[in-house]
Amino acid sequence: MRIGILGSGLMGGKLGTLFARAGHDVVFSYARSDQKLKRLAREARGNARAGTPGEAAREADVLLLAVHWSRVDDVLKQAGDLSGKVIISCSLPMNAADTGLVIGHTSSGAEALAKKVSKSRVVSAFNTVPSEVLFGVFAARRKARKPSLVYCGDDARSKKIAAELIRDVGFDPVDAGPLRIARYTEPFTLLIAQLAYEGDGGPELAYRFERFGGKA
Ligand SMILES: NC(=O)c1ccc[n+]([C@@H]2O[C@H](COP(=O)([O-])OP(=O)(O)OC[C@H]3O[C@@H](n4cnc5c(N)ncnc54)[C@H](OP(=O)(O)O)[C@@H]3O)[C@@H](O)[C@H]2O)c1
Repeated sequence: MRIGILGSGLMGGKLGTLFARAGHDVVFSYARSDQKLKRLAREARGNARAGTPGEAAREADVLLLAVHWSRVDDVLKQAGDLSGKVIISCSLPMNAADTGLVIGHTSSGAEALAKKVSKSRVVSAFNTVPSEVLFGVFAARRKARKPSLVYCGDDARSKKIAAELIRDVGFDPVDAGPLRIARYTEPFTLLIAQLAYEGDGGPELAYRFERFGGKA
């Protein structure tokens, strides 16, 4: 797949690197320095390069949106026409201080995003784990017991693409349903962040759902 990274920070930088290592074509965009984008592309050791958000979007089948909530409008404006694109968003609707969600209960960041880009297909994914765990999960991707990763969206084809990328990074994709389920997955991330950043075990934390009895 050709993947455009919109926001090459902790999440976008790492996920873009892992997508490239999994064999995808990646364009890193949107950081405060072009040098950083070029370094990410070099160090990804795959088919990766640096570009503008417009370039990342034009050539991509799939976009990863990985910016702070306050930067969403800016990066979307720079990306240009996103009609028909699949946008996988790991962005959470956090306030400026990153202490709480600014959207919740009756909507979600993912749904608010989908309204902004009504001609694109939004999938919410990768937003429920800390960036610190991503390389560890990738390193362990051939093990039988994989961590779960919930995702949700309204378009079946886009969700299939998201599930493939989730698998490529080393997670077991868990389809949580339509995009409105982001109302549950986004606050769930605050629990994960609490355990990752305030707990004793460190931030390299993922989660796994287990079923007992009933259907396998
Ligand atoms: N970090 C996590 O563990 C985590 C987990 C789950 C969800 N999320 C969500 O994922 C999203 C991304 O988080 P993150 O931690 O990856 O954020 P981040 O590290 O701050 O990355 C954001 C990217 O946007 C770029 N950027 C910011 N302002 C800019 C500007 N004015 N012009 C150009 N580029 C600019 C940053 O540039 P620089 O590279 O120059 O700083 C960086 O590349 C957020 O919505 C967050 O809530 C994060």
